[in-house]
Amino acid sequence: MTDLRQYLRGLAVFAGELPDFDPDAAPERPETLFVDWLTAAVDAGVREPHVMTLSTVGADGAPSARALLLKNVDRNGWQFAAGAASPKGRDLAANPVAALSCYWPQQARQVRITGRVVPEPPESSAADFLARPSGSRAEALVGRQSHPLHDLRELERATEQARDRIEREPGLVVPEWTLYTLRARQVEFWQADRHRRHTRLRYERRGEDWTRGRLWP
Ligand SMILES: Cc1cc2nc3c(=O)[nH]c(=O)nc-3n(C[C@H](O)[C@H](O)[C@H](O)COP(=O)(O)O)c2cc1C
Repeated sequence: MTDLRQYLRGLAVFAGELPDFDPDAAPERPETLFVDWLTAAVDAGVREPHVMTLSTVGADGAPSARALLLKNVDRNGWQFAAGAASPKGRDLAANPVAALSCYWPQQARQVRITGRVVPEPPESSAADFLARPSGSRAEALVGRQSHPLHDLRELERATEQARDRIEREPGLVVPEWTLYTLRARQVEFWQADRHRRHTRLRYERRGEDWTRGRLWP
């Protein structure tokens, strides 16, 4: 690559037919609009539209972001699951706040969500764990996520042992597996426009209700 800057400038963004978004017709609650957009993304053939970026803040104030699967959305918030002993789990224990963001490129739509994060009771976390495929359960049982890996054979051994154990004990639950709910305080919906008059609508929580208003692009 001779000139990466030039190459990047030449890549398309917000290409193709983009959907309409009329904030005046938006529903009262952000989770309703989120589910509308999510299902529209599925219908438009967006790959893995339920993958979000979760951003957390560590005890030292350092930010960190990674991809995660969306588990559910309802009036209580946006749910995801992770190991409590992982770096993100430790971040959330130290600073129980987070941001989630989704981007659906076929429609050039972004959603940004911020709020407090609460761990759900062990029964809900266990139900989420047991609903995962056995390979994913074994992966969680191996543990030590994000620790430095010095010996691949050690990982292979631990994975094999974990798989055997999951097979022998199908009801086994890894106690550190945690279902978290992000209780949104702000949710912003962003729809690109090819002529750069992007439409933005931000919801803000007021007690149990929500206010909403447009933002400058
Ligand atoms: C598409 C995708 C989905 C993922 N889903 C999850 C998930 O639901 N839960 C999870 O703990 N990690 C998930 N991961 C892995 C995380 O991105 C991350 O690598 C891992 O959780 C370690 O993060 P941490 O070191 O910040 O704790 C996913 C990764 C990708 C690329």
